[in-house]
Amino acid sequence: MTVRDILIACCVLFALSGCSESDDATTDSAPPAKSVATTPSGDEHGEWLLHGLSGGEQRFSPLDQINVSTVDTLGLAFEYSDFVVRGSTRRGPEATPLMDDGVLYFTGPWDVVYALDARSGRELWLYDPEVDGARARVTCCDVVNRGLALQGNAVFVATTDGFLIALDKQSGEVVWKTDTFIERDSHHTITGAPRLAGDVIVIGNGGAEMGVRGYVTAFDIETGAFRWRFFTVPGPGPDETVDITLARTTWSEQTPWDHGGGGTAWDSMVYEEATDTIYVGVGNGSPWPGWKRSEGKVYDNLYLSSIVALDAETGLAKWHYQTTPGDSWDYTATQHMILADIDWEGKRRKVIMQAPKNGFFYVLDRETGELLSAEPFVPVSWASHVDMETGRPVLTENADYSQVERLIAPGPGGGHNWPPMSFSPLTGLVYIPTLEFSSRYSTLDDGEGYQPGSRNTKARSVIGNPKDTDPASELPPITRNSHVLAWDPVAGKPRWKSDAQPLGGGGILSTAGNLVFGASLDGNLNIFNAETGALLREIKIGTVAYAPPMTYELDGEQYIALLAGAGGVGMRAHLPGSAALAYENYERLLVFKLGGGDIPLPPAYQKLEENPIPAGLPTDEETLALGERKYDRYCVRCHQKRNIPSGYPNLWNMSPDTDELFDEIVLNGAFEYAGMAGFSDLLTPEDTLAMRAYIAQDRRQVQEGAKAEDPEAH
Ligand code: HEC
Repeated sequence: MTVRDILIACCVLFALSGCSESDDATTDSAPPAKSVATTPSGDEHGEWLLHGLSGGEQRFSPLDQINVSTVDTLGLAFEYSDFVVRGSTRRGPEATPLMDDGVLYFTGPWDVVYALDARSGRELWLYDPEVDGARARVTCCDVVNRGLALQGNAVFVATTDGFLIALDKQSGEVVWKTDTFIERDSHHTITGAPRLAGDVIVIGNGGAEMGVRGYVTAFDIETGAFRWRFFTVPGPGPDETVDITLARTTWSEQTPWDHGGGGTAWDSMVYEEATDTIYVGVGNGSPWPGWKRSEGKVYDNLYLSSIVALDAETGLAKWHYQTTPGDSWDYTATQHMILADIDWEGKRRKVIMQAPKNGFFYVLDRETGELLSAEPFVPVSWASHVDMETGRPVLTENADYSQVERLIAPGPGGGHNWPPMSFSPLTGLVYIPTLEFSSRYSTLDDGEGYQPGSRNTKARSVIGNPKDTDPASELPPITRNSHVLAWDPVAGKPRWKSDAQPLGGGGILSTAGNLVFGASLDGNLNIFNAETGALLREIKIGTVAYAPPMTYELDGEQYIALLAGAGGVGMRAHLPGSAALAYENYERLLVFKLGGGDIPLPPAYQKLEENPIPAGLPTDEETLALGERKYDRYCVRCHQKRNIPSGYPNLWNMSPDTDELFDEIVLNGAFEYAGMAGFSDLLTPEDTLAMRAYIAQDRRQVQEGAKAEDPEAH
């Protein structure tokens, strides 16, 4: 495999990883109606009040000043880039900004909340929750935050280290702060936006890769007092609820409960006021291979990879639908869910739609959980189809990598990851930022047992090459692409598909201007005709953007806002073609309007000067092998190897001074505040010396060009 393959493998390896509905009309096929309830519909007076805009999280705006005829003059209204940065590491915002009464509210890395004048971009206040830098080590995909909830006088943010905080909307001062984690020393993290659900606010968490037990928790909106908790998988017992008693029947009695089981609900939730239901998307299993969560046999393992409808009053399940029973492929069902009322075989049906990682687009009746449709929206090889009688995927031979390595589509990045999709009631289409990547999966037995605070997936996955075939069968090669896909949920097939974007794209916004907006990682904001898919504008911003654009109207003028910056999973490796290789990467909020100005591009990307290689380190085979093994186990997932461009410091260009400080940094956590926690719980000074020796030796070899490209990925 070439360096480029490793690079791509590394990047996609781990998953490319408010919500009150005012009334039924917000999920109707007509543009959302204005609110009558205490919690407004998200788009009142051109505002954007809820994470997914409407109660059904459709991310469809009725604003139409910017439309197919006027979009030509879209330009910059203002830019804001004064983000809180720790150390020298620039990270990626992933939030959807909210706009209320002329103020834009959004989060950046480290869960910092920003409030700006939505006309000028002037900063009104910022709130830094000072999150614990050590938590960065147990994040799947860096310190990111997908946004806020807003109600009455309060703005709500959840932090990487597990707190849910209500802030005063005017001043940014803390009103209440509550701990959402059951244990402080667990390895959970939070990256998602909290959701309002009646008189509670609900938040989940992440950490399945680290080996944790997932749960979502509801708190009183006014006081922050605990109201209920829904565990997504069983634990050592006793069972907390009847839902856990049911789930336990789908797990082996021999399950090592202290390994967590996974099932973290780290992103999508959507609330329906009419039925007081909060729908929660549940994540993958931990470890990944289902047969390693038991003794060789695969069980269904509820509620992994499921959509669960919870009573927002009690936290008890009304129904569940498991997209991937016995998940072994990191097929989370945490992806964006949309509520809509659509005509289905002559009948109006209230549905919930999701395009989870496993590659099937699901339409469920949201009153009962009945499966209405499950069609592949990207190439899928692990299952031939979903049986409409049982609702279960029918696995192919290709799905089983217990004995041999397999090339499987989709890979762990999924057919669709967290960047949200959008449903336009005008076109009846769902616009999905898809990923068409396959991965070679194998089990990982590196001799290291379960290690709290480290990756415990027990599987290895390397992104497939376009020419790869499944070594165990003759499956055709699968392309490496991504698209904006316009999916017809009723017909169960695509209407149009954008030209391929090899690097992937960000979240989507659709509007009544017959437009679809979405960024691509080569540094463009792309604008399509919602009906036909014609690419109308390609606005060069020069920055990678994963976050979805949003829109608002003020004083009769419509704006489009987009948070940009290469971060999250994309921080690990900047792929060829990425905007982060052409321009310096930093966090930016870009706001556009008709007749706006030119978009300022960041300064050109500067390669760092080469530092001398530290001398005097051991060179014996045994030490070098130990160093490489430990590096691969604990470090490569952030720092990469061999000058692969990344958002993390390149240790293959470490200065002799940094090498001197290696133990201070790597064992004692000297840079913990900036997201580089110490590893003294897992590593010894013997290990760190071996890693320094290995890195120095490998640098010499790279310099001499002696060693061909590394044949092994990780
Ligand atoms: C979760 C991601 C992550 C992991 C895993 C990680 N690091 Fe880091 N590391 C960072 C970040 C972020 C920084 C930069 C902090 C800053 O901006 O000052 C850093 C900085 C460093 C530095 C200082 C580099 C310099 O030039 O300033 C060294 C040395 C280092 N890490 C070594 C390691 C080693 C060795 C391992 C494995 C045991 C490791 N790191 C694992 C995120 C990580």
